[in-house]
Amino acid sequence: MNLGNLNLDGNIFLAPMAGITDIPYRRIMKRYGAALVYSEMISANGLIRAGHKTRQLMLSSTEEQPLGIQLFGNDPDTMAEATREATPHAQLIDLNFGCPAKKVIRTGAGSALMREPERIGQIVAAVRKATPLPLTVKIRAGWDSTSINYLEIARLAENEGADAVTLHPRTRSQGFGGKADWTLIRGLKEAIDIPVIGSGDIFTPEDGLEMMKTTGCDAIMVGRGSFGNPWLLKNIHQLQMQLPVKKPSQLERYCTLREHYQMFIDCYGPRRAVGHMRKHLAWYARGMNGAAEFRHKINRVLTPEGVSDAIDDFFGTAGQKGLPE
Ligand SMILES: Cc1cc2nc3c(=O)[nH]c(=O)nc-3n(C[C@H](O)[C@H](O)[C@H](O)COP(=O)(O)O)c2cc1C
Repeated sequence: MNLGNLNLDGNIFLAPMAGITDIPYRRIMKRYGAALVYSEMISANGLIRAGHKTRQLMLSSTEEQPLGIQLFGNDPDTMAEATREATPHAQLIDLNFGCPAKKVIRTGAGSALMREPERIGQIVAAVRKATPLPLTVKIRAGWDSTSINYLEIARLAENEGADAVTLHPRTRSQGFGGKADWTLIRGLKEAIDIPVIGSGDIFTPEDGLEMMKTTGCDAIMVGRGSFGNPWLLKNIHQLQMQLPVKKPSQLERYCTLREHYQMFIDCYGPRRAVGHMRKHLAWYARGMNGAAEFRHKINRVLTPEGVSDAIDDFFGTAGQKGLPE
């Protein structure tokens, strides 16, 4: 499929997730078939003030390409300037109009903008002029159940030059509660001419296919379902191709985890990798015998060697122990 002038290998994407979709995560998901991956959301303000930490969020490896960089902010000029900064580091720019986090809302950004359609129009117009890259926007259904306005916002974005719209069909006040209302994705597909990307509650390969079929969306985006489960993306693709869906073998799970851990070490150094790895280890262990005990154990592990041993002990078998890192 195409997003603007960008030709993609498929239509299963990895959702942008702050605190999750860093370089190692994106590399793993790319390997398992994500046709497009996004950075964590990046503050436009932070970028143009040249904050070192903010700039680091733009780093990537060529393996991840095509990469979308997602920006959030509330001021059209600032967003345009940040876009100019981000453009050399990305193959696509995405604008976040859906984040429900209080610290983002307080600045008038993220889903707070769903209450200011005019400003969204100004931001998209300013950013459109600032980059030749494909431009997408990510929205929610509205601020709350009394102000569902995703159609209005999406049409505005389309008129101002956006190349696609991603909809997570929950309101800001819903947060992550209730169920994502996929009928809204269908409504959006009928209302605009640019591609629609559906997001929300894809936890199984069947969910992925069902969203595509029932909404007619052009692409889907997998978020929480990918936690500890990169195979989900691959298996949605398998289903799409009418090929068998396969659970990962123990060896595959073990090797993927080891690789993920090594990528954390390369990216953050061994000490920081320990902290980063904990939540992922817990996710990879979900549903396995003894997972609760394992979680408890890794929360007390403090050294890189401790993490390595925990992976070998829980996920490895005698034959796999000692595989090169
Ligand atoms: C931990 C976490 C962080 C997220 N961060 C972002 C973000 O930075 N930008 C964004 O547009 N959406 C963000 N989202 C929303 C996801 O992109 C996605 O739209 C949402 O989780 C619904 O999809 P899912 O049910 O597949 O998780 C985040 C979601 C989670 C769970």
